[in-house]
Amino acid sequence: MNALIAPSMLSADFCHLADDIEMVNRSQADWFHLDIMDGMFVPNISYGLPVVKAIRGLAEKPLDVHLMINDPGRYVSEFKQAGADILTVHYEAVTHLHRVVWQIKNEDMLAGVALNPHTPVALLDDIIQDLDLVLIMSVNPGFGGQKFIKNALKKVSELRDIIEKRNLNTLIEVDGGVDGNTAVDLVEAGADVLVSGNYIFKATNPEKTIECLKHIGKED
Ligand code: DX5
Ligand code: ZN
Repeated sequence: MNALIAPSMLSADFCHLADDIEMVNRSQADWFHLDIMDGMFVPNISYGLPVVKAIRGLAEKPLDVHLMINDPGRYVSEFKQAGADILTVHYEAVTHLHRVVWQIKNEDMLAGVALNPHTPVALLDDIIQDLDLVLIMSVNPGFGGQKFIKNALKKVSELRDIIEKRNLNTLIEVDGGVDGNTAVDLVEAGADVLVSGNYIFKATNPEKTIECLKHIGKED
């Protein structure tokens, strides 16, 4: 199976956002990846609900919303209303994770949990059966264009083993420093979804770059 490709709109041209949304619509990408940052959980501030809503108006593919905010349970309904299809919260930002995961699922969205580079996958042992997706961060969240942290490959393999052993359908998504090289290793390690920002949007031909990422590894 080919990986799903989720271009991160953080690297898009915000002055011509509609053009970049149309490019993703035309391309072989599967999801739009939207990074929400609060300047507290991560040192950066990105964009919020009105921008998600505007993207929803033009996007013809699911919105994969990655919340890098403290206490994200406060905003689950708001992101549903803005058009999120998949909502991912950080393990490190939530006290009552089980409650928040079910808040997301009860709003008819897919629920994801993201792990920072220092957070071991073993900590998901008692929640993974409820998750639609686990997002392995391969950079410290907060900025696009950072260098891939190789330990993420080990985490993807470990998670793949857990998912197989327990016979689950949980998707493994990886985010940060994904390019043509790291993508090959990630697909090999068992990743299902590749998020990519700078590598796609700074390319001379972003649409072609998406197509190349899509065809890494085994064909369908
Ligand atoms: C980082 C964000 C990523 C980021 C990825 O905190 O979660 O989605 O936009 O960008 P690249 O692919 O440039 O590392
Ligand atoms: Zn992200």
